[in-house]
Amino acid sequence: MNALRLLPAGLLASACLALPAAAPAQEPAGKPRVSFEAKTLPANDVETKILGVIEDVFANQRRGSMSVPTHDGRILRVLAESIGAKHVVELGTSVGYSGLWFSLALKATGGKLTTYEIDKDRAAKARANFARAGVGDIITIVEGDAHVEVTKLKEPIDLLFLDADKEGYVDYLNKLLPLVKPGGLIVAHNMVERMAHPPYLQAITTNPALETVYINLSESGIGVTLKKR
Ligand SMILES: C[S@@+](CC[C@H](N)C(=O)[O-])C[C@H]1O[C@@H](n2cnc3c(N)ncnc32)[C@H](O)[C@@H]1O
Repeated sequence: MNALRLLPAGLLASACLALPAAAPAQEPAGKPRVSFEAKTLPANDVETKILGVIEDVFANQRRGSMSVPTHDGRILRVLAESIGAKHVVELGTSVGYSGLWFSLALKATGGKLTTYEIDKDRAAKARANFARAGVGDIITIVEGDAHVEVTKLKEPIDLLFLDADKEGYVDYLNKLLPLVKPGGLIVAHNMVERMAHPPYLQAITTNPALETVYINLSESGIGVTLKKR
């Protein structure tokens, strides 16, 4: 038994005060400091141009746009490019910040993005941002209520990104899961306790055809669901 736990509270306080201060943690001699800082480095002119617009949108249009954080944008790009996505479908374009991250992947895979937005002003800003990044030709913005518009989609999907109305995620999943290719991904943003919609969590964790992991839970939270082959 720890002797301190037997002391009354007052005595414990003074006992603690009497204890020597804990020594600061020491770096083992010779061990270099670890840094997890990372930044997207442009590999060519196409990436330089897209990244320039990404930085500008982040600096000047982020306010009120509800765009994903930069780190999440980088995650989206890595997911899309690593599965060789040819068709990404996004619910919730806003001003196109996440779409620009997807475009980095899609320029490399030869793919395209179909993205849905209900707000005309945001859709117009996104269209202008895609054009000046040089990716307007690989992106289709569908304006209107995505719950209605997605029912017109017929093409297979490699990666489905849910980032519109949170209570709508289950409806989007139900309508679009048949189009997601085996081996494709359903990526859902804002999978943290205060934002995630329980029926969506239930839908992605109780279907044996799906495998879900959650990443970046200490920040915005992303659900990554694999449609098994
Ligand atoms: C969180 S923002 C999207 C941010 C964007 N993915 C990004 O990271 O740059 C959500 C967007 O979904 C749009 N939205 C909400 N409900 C919608 C619906 N039913 N149909 C289409 N868009 C919708 C909103 O207008 C808003 O611009």
